[in-house]
Amino acid sequence: MSLEAVKKEIDANSHRFIERLRDAVAIPSVSADPERRSDVLHMIDWAAKHLEALGADCQQIPNGTQQLPDGTEIVLPPVLFAELGKDPKKKTLLVYGHLDVQPAEKSDGWNTDPFVLTEKDGKLYGRGSSDDKGPVLAWMNAIEALKKLNIDIPVNIKFCLEGMEENGSEGLEDILTREKDGYLKDVDFCCISDSQWLGKTKPCLTYGLRGICYYFVEIQGVSQDLHSGIFGGSVYEPMNDLLWVLSQLSAVDGKIHIPEIHQMVAPVKEGERELYESIDFDIDEYRKDLGAFDLTTMDKAELLMRRWRYPSLSVHGIEGAFSSPGAKTVIPAKVVGKFSIRIVPNMKPNEVDDAVVAHLNKLWSQRGSPNRFKAYPGHEGGKCWSADPADPNYQAGARAMKAVFGVEPDLVREGCSIPITITFQELTGKNVLLLPICASDDMAHSQNEKMNVRNYIEGTKVMAAYLMELGKL
Ligand SMILES: *[C@@H]1O[C@H](CO)[C@@H](O)[C@H](O)[C@H]1NC(C)=O
Ligand SMILES: *[C@@H]1O[C@H](CO)[C@@H](O)[C@H](O)[C@H]1NC(C)=O
Ligand SMILES: [Zn+2]
Repeated sequence: MSLEAVKKEIDANSHRFIERLRDAVAIPSVSADPERRSDVLHMIDWAAKHLEALGADCQQIPNGTQQLPDGTEIVLPPVLFAELGKDPKKKTLLVYGHLDVQPAEKSDGWNTDPFVLTEKDGKLYGRGSSDDKGPVLAWMNAIEALKKLNIDIPVNIKFCLEGMEENGSEGLEDILTREKDGYLKDVDFCCISDSQWLGKTKPCLTYGLRGICYYFVEIQGVSQDLHSGIFGGSVYEPMNDLLWVLSQLSAVDGKIHIPEIHQMVAPVKEGERELYESIDFDIDEYRKDLGAFDLTTMDKAELLMRRWRYPSLSVHGIEGAFSSPGAKTVIPAKVVGKFSIRIVPNMKPNEVDDAVVAHLNKLWSQRGSPNRFKAYPGHEGGKCWSADPADPNYQAGARAMKAVFGVEPDLVREGCSIPITITFQELTGKNVLLLPICASDDMAHSQNEKMNVRNYIEGTKVMAAYLMELGKL
C-alpha cells in the first residue's frame, strides 16, 4: 500500500482530526498553575485513552509531589508511557511530546477564548494547538490512518508524554534515568516534534541546539541606599562599577570580549558555511519582523551562524537598580547584574563557568574599586546539543518531508535549548531527530497561539511517512 493511499485517508479524515484537536485544546492543562493540576491529569488520561484505542499499552508513571514556593505540595502529573507494538524483529522508535500548556487568559489579549479551538483563515487558534498538542495528536492521527488501511507499522513505538514541560519538566529526568535499562533499553531511534520551522512555509529538520550558562555579578558598596546630592562624589558607587564591568564583556556587534570563550568553539568545518548558505531564509524580512533598525550582519550565512553556531552574550537585568519612570537620585547600595551566554559545541558549561568567572575577577582587579565584588554562575548550565544530520534517522525524516511537501527540508539549528533532547541522546545512546511540523509564526507561549490547518494535516502525513521510512532502514 502506497503513501498516496495514506495521504488520501488523512485528507478524508481531516475534519475529525481537527475535532480531536478541539477536544484536547478544551482541556486547560496549564502546568504552572496549581489550580489547573487536575486538568493536566485529565489531559494525560485523555491521551492514554486515545492511545489505548489505537492498541497501545499505557502506563502512567507517578513521581510524587511538587513543592510550591509557599511550601504546599501538590501531586506531579505522571509521565505517560505508551507502547505500540512489541515485535522483537522490529526496531523501536521513542517519541516524546508534552500535553501541558502555557498559561492563557482571554484578558491577556487573545482575540478568542484560548481554550476553544477557533478556525479562521486556515488557522486553528487555541492554547497548545501548536505547542505541543497539535504535534502529539498528529502522531495519533497518523497511526490511526495506517491502522485503518491495515498497513503494518514497521517499527515498535514507545511514547513518552509528559505534563510538566512548561513548568521545568520536574520529575521527568528522574523517571527516565530510572528507565535507562527499562523502558528506554531497546530504543533504536528517537523523535521529538516540539519545535518550529525556520519560516512559515518550508519544512526543516533541526540538528543542533545551543545551551546556556547564566551569571550573577554582585557589587556591594555601602550599607544602605544613599542620596546622590548629599553623598555623590564621596563614595565608590556599585552601579557605576557594575555598568563598567558589564560594558567590557561585548562589542557593539555582539562579539564577546572573553578570549577563552572563542578557543572553546568548534572550528568551522570545510563546507559547513555552504550548509547555511543554502537555507531558505529572508534576512530582510527577519529584520522587519523584529522591528530592528539593523542586524549585526546582513550576510545570511553569517547571521544564521551567529544565531545558532556561535555563542552569544546577553545582559538581562540589574537587581537593585532604579527602573521606574521619572527621575530618582538614589545611589543603590548593592546591585546584582545578570547575564547569560548561549553556548555551542564544544563549549562545556563548567569550563565556560571557570573562564567567565576568572575573566570577571580580572576585570574587577582592573577597575580598582574597593567595593565588594562577587561573580558566580547561576543554576547548572544547560549543555548544547547537536546530532549528525547524515544519520539514517535524519535521512528518513528528510524523505518523509520531501514525500509530503515536495521539497527537501532545510537542515537548521536553533538558538535555544530543549533539555529532553540531550536526556534522550545520553540515556539511549541513539540519534535524536527533531521533526518540527509547526510554522515559525505560531506564537507558542504568546497570545493567539495557532496551528495552520495545513501544518496539522500535512504534519500528520509527515509522521505517517516517517514511520513507513523507518521500516526501510
Ligand atoms: C521522584 O523523583 C525524585 C527525585 O527528584 C525521586 O527521589 C523520587 O523517588 C521520585 N518519586 C517517585 C514517587 O517516584
Ligand atoms: C512552576 O510553577 C510554579 C507554581 O506556579 C512556579 O512557582 C514556578 O516558578 C514554575 N517553575 C517553572 C520552571 O516554570
Ligand atoms: Zn513545547
